[in-house]
Order: sequence, then structure tokens, then C-alpha cells
Amino acid sequence: MPDLPAPAPNSAEETPPSRRVHIKSYGCQMNAYDATRMADVLAPHGYAEAASAEEADLVILNTCHIREKAAEKVYSELGRLRGLKNERQAAGKPTMIAVAGCVAQAEGAEITRRAPVVDVVVGPQSYHRLPDLIDRATRERRAVDTEFPAEDKFDHLPAASAQVIGARGYSAFLTVQEGCDKFCTFCVVPYTRGAEVSRPVERIVAEAEGLARAGVREITLIGQNVNAYHGEGPDGAVWSLARLARRIAGIPGLARLRYSTSHPHDMAEDLIALHGELPAFMPYLHLPVQSGSDQVLAAMNRRHTADEYRRLIDRVRRARPDIALSSDFIVGFPGESDADFEATMRLVRDIGFASAFSFKYSPRPGTPAAEMTGQVPAAVSRDRLAALQGLLNRQQTDFNAATVGRTVDVLFEKKGRHNGQIAGKSPYLQAVQVEGPDSLIGTIVPVEITGLATFSLFGRLAGSAKEEQ
Ligand code: 5AD
Ligand code: SF4
Repeated sequence: MPDLPAPAPNSAEETPPSRRVHIKSYGCQMNAYDATRMADVLAPHGYAEAASAEEADLVILNTCHIREKAAEKVYSELGRLRGLKNERQAAGKPTMIAVAGCVAQAEGAEITRRAPVVDVVVGPQSYHRLPDLIDRATRERRAVDTEFPAEDKFDHLPAASAQVIGARGYSAFLTVQEGCDKFCTFCVVPYTRGAEVSRPVERIVAEAEGLARAGVREITLIGQNVNAYHGEGPDGAVWSLARLARRIAGIPGLARLRYSTSHPHDMAEDLIALHGELPAFMPYLHLPVQSGSDQVLAAMNRRHTADEYRRLIDRVRRARPDIALSSDFIVGFPGESDADFEATMRLVRDIGFASAFSFKYSPRPGTPAAEMTGQVPAAVSRDRLAALQGLLNRQQTDFNAATVGRTVDVLFEKKGRHNGQIAGKSPYLQAVQVEGPDSLIGTIVPVEITGLATFSLFGRLAGSAKEEQ
């Protein structure tokens, strides 16, 4: 047991002292998953989760480096935490501050130089070493680990306990693949998360079985480039994401499967076909396109043209006509002209998205695009983003409005916003609220959609509990 700060005064010999950890996650779903795994690795060392930094003996900022000012946000949050740490220390409550995630990976020891309040810096590949790092920081004041270790962190992370999963709900993320070899010219991920690595099938299946046993009904298989998955199967063969998904869908208790985030280049035919074959595969696909201009796509090193993306979407829609499509867009990439931007708007109009994320290009230090000529003035990017978001928001509203009057299966995950309401997700990943008993939480029930708000749909229970097959 490492020598940790603030042992509870009455901690029993046989149980680890009770301490609290607060993990604040920024950015992607991978960070959300990593936060749960960091909590899992700390739990046997006596750390329970705290809802706020004020109540925590250990605060972990799980950072994102993908876009604008992410690192600056971390430093300003650290400024706030310095005050909190001082107050707590003065009250006799030693407090540790750790920085994890992609800013930790990118900035390393520089963080402790700029923000001496930080005790631990830990990169995404070293989370299994957190207890040791905390121990080291207690002894040596500070510990930094941004290696890409030879050992696999997943082998060293404990399985999440049923109790922990129970507290986290009925829909879970499961990392199947990490890192990226695509090197889009705007993106830091290949540098912060490293090369593409797929976890072996058996490990993933064991984790999925554990989640199902703990009551999880829906799993989202995640990875920076999840559809490039090529893990070793129990038969020694290399399994594709489609093959893995089929195997996981057979686990008793699991009703729904999703996957994210995919690259158009890796959208294999077996994966597309599975959308039409496997009922557990939810009709939702997040497939970033970034731009509708071939010149910009080439400068981004995306490896496909706008028309190839259109044809790919045609194939996906042939397999699953009602699929809800989602994407990521960047406006103001270096060299993007008015005509290039218009090509993006045209692609959006042609395809029609159910939801999307769109961003102003932000130069990331160390990426090729940051060195490119033709950086687009901020005001131009701002106007383009507003126009694109206006169009995407209208498409999202249209997609949601088309659900009104239909009956869709909803997985209820939690209590709703108001008393007597419960909230869940449609197969198309729409948030749905109904009047209904808490006993339906954790079940999948047909719901007649009756109305529309900005961020969710309203409906009424259409019958007795029913399972998707
Ligand atoms: N600037 C703006 N957006 C970016 N993204 C990634 N890198 C950048 C950047 N430098 C966006 C892409 C990606 C999403 C996760 O973040 O659209 O798909
Ligand atoms: Fe970044 Fe491109 Fe890899 Fe996605 S595919 S993580 S945008 S380099």
C-alpha cells in the first residue's frame, strides 16, 4: 500500500484508508472511458469517487489537446486548484493534483515547471502506474510518466467491479483499440496517443461479459480509429471490428452495440453489411468527413475524396436505410477558399446528417498543418462555422421532427429532469424523456414519440417492457 496523503483517522487495518478522488474529464469518449479505468485502478488503494474537487484528496484533470486553447484551459483550472489545495492543506487535508490525458502527454514535465501545484503528470499509456506515481510524488514531491511503456496498460488495469459499474449506469464505453496511424495533417492524436494498437479479442470479450453481468445493456466499442480494429482472435487469426462485434452481440444481457470513432478509409464491407444483419447494431454511424472539398481533403491527408465519401454513405444506407449519420467538420483549414467551403455545404446538403460536430481549425504545435501557408483569418472561419452550424442544426431538427409520431425502442438509463420522468436513448442516439416509473430504468421499452425540444424528444410508453433481439 503506498504512503498516501490524508489517511482516514479510523481506518481499519484490513481495509485501505478511505480517500476521495475527483476526476475531471475533458474531450473525447476515450477520456471518459479512461476516467472510469483510473477510478478502477485507484479503488483498491482506498479511493472512492468524489463529486467535486472541494471534497477530494486527489484531483485528476484528464485533459484534451485536440483543439484550441485546451492547454490554456488546463493551466487556468490549475490556477483555481492551487487556491483550493492551499485552503485544504491549511485545514490539515493534504491534497494532490494530477494532470492526465493528452496535454500531459504533449507537455510532460513542462507542466510541473509552469504549474508547481501539480504533483503527478501521467500520460494515457501509463494509467495503470497511477498508484505508484502517487506514492513516488508523496516521497519525492513530484512524479512524471509520459512514456509509452512496453507493458500493456490493459493487462495491469483491474476489471471494473460490479458495484462501480452499477453506479455508472446501463450504457458503457469499452476501449478496443487505441492510437492512430492516419496522420491527418491537423491532428495531434498520433503524437499523443501513439501508434494504432488493437486489444486481443478475448480480453475485450471478458470485459464485455463483466459489464453485461453487472447489468450493462448497451456497449459502445471505442477507439481513436475503431473501425481499423484488427485484434488477435482466440483462433490466432486477425479479427475485424465486424467479427468482434458479432461475438460481443452474442453475450447474454447485451441488447445494443455501437462503435466510435471511425475513419471512412477503414469502413470495410463486412462492417457495412453488419448494419443490415445484426439487430443489436444500432442504426447510428459517426463517420467524420472534415471537409467536402477534394483539395482540402488532400491537404488534410484524409485519403478519400468527397465523392468517395458520398458513395460510401450510399452503401451504408443500402445496408441500413434508416441509419442516422453523424460527422465531424473543420472549417478554415489552411488554404480553404470560399469555393472549398461551399463544397462542404454542398456535401452536407447532399447527405443530410442527424447530428454533427463542427470546429474552427486550430493549429496544433508539431502538426504539419500548423506550418502550412494560407492560414484563414479568424473572422472568415467564424462566419463559415456559423453558416455550417446553422445548416447542421436545421438538419438535426428535421431528423428529430421526423421521429415524432413514430414508435421507437428506448433504453432507459436514468431519472428524467422532472419528478416522475425517466430518460433514455433511442436507437438513433436521441435523448428521450417520458413519464414513467423508475422500475423501467435499465430496460428497453417501445415509446411513441410525441414532441420535440431543443436537445431531446418527448414520448409516452407504448406498451409493456420489450427486449430488442
Ligand atoms: N482543429 C480543429 N478541429 C480539430 N479536430 C481535430 N484536430 C483539430 C484541429 N487541429 C476535430 C476533427 C476530429 C475531431 C475529434 O476534432 O474534426 O474529427
Ligand atoms: Fe486524428 Fe485523423 Fe487519426 Fe482521426 S484519423 S485521430 S483525425 S489523425
